[in-house]
Amino acid sequence: MANRSITLTLPHPDDTDRLGAALGQQFLRHSSLLASNGLNLRLDGTLGAGKTCLVRSLIRSLGWNGPVKSPTFSLVESYLLLGNPFNHFDFYRFEDPMEFEDAGFRDLFGPGMICATEWTEKAEPFVPAPDLSISLAHEGLGRRAELTAHTPAGKAILSGLHGDGPADA
Ligand SMILES: Nc1ncnc2c1ncn2[C@@H]1O[C@H](COP(=O)(O)OP(=O)(O)OP(=O)(O)O)[C@@H](O)[C@H]1O
Ligand SMILES: [Mg+2]
Repeated sequence: MANRSITLTLPHPDDTDRLGAALGQQFLRHSSLLASNGLNLRLDGTLGAGKTCLVRSLIRSLGWNGPVKSPTFSLVESYLLLGNPFNHFDFYRFEDPMEFEDAGFRDLFGPGMICATEWTEKAEPFVPAPDLSISLAHEGLGRRAELTAHTPAGKAILSGLHGDGPADA
């Protein structure tokens, strides 16, 4: 399967929130796929790129009304969304990727589980491969997002989203 990719410009933080909500709509649309397959969502980008903001708006759009803390210190924050565990990881503080195995985090990935990961490279090669990756980069005062589907599940989630360029339509 060829990877499918779209790019979006996000000039304002509200645009990042809107992208998170749009992703949430896709999660709702494909809830049975998520319940059977699960989904690994990888967030890439430098410090302050907007990874946590995007995941926060995704989590809220799936009906969560409580606080959504950054997992920078806890390493993982877990929710129950759409009847599925949703695990939001930040591996930034890992000094060794083996910490992923030692913490038993592998058990939090798999069918029926939704995982969003920040600083994924710090847990490689142990962290399972993504279905969908989102790379956020600074562009002027705003951000640019590139979303890439790596699996049929990722492609299903991406299918209802539209990028900026004609090539993305
Ligand atoms: N589209 C945007 N345009 C401008 N600023 C944005 C945009 N999206 C998010 N931001 C801002 O960027 C910052 C992003 O912070 P956030 O904690 O989400 O970054 P992060 O990528 O998770 O960083 P870290 O690697 O430290 O976890 C916030 O201050 C937010 O308001
Ligand atoms: Mg973050």
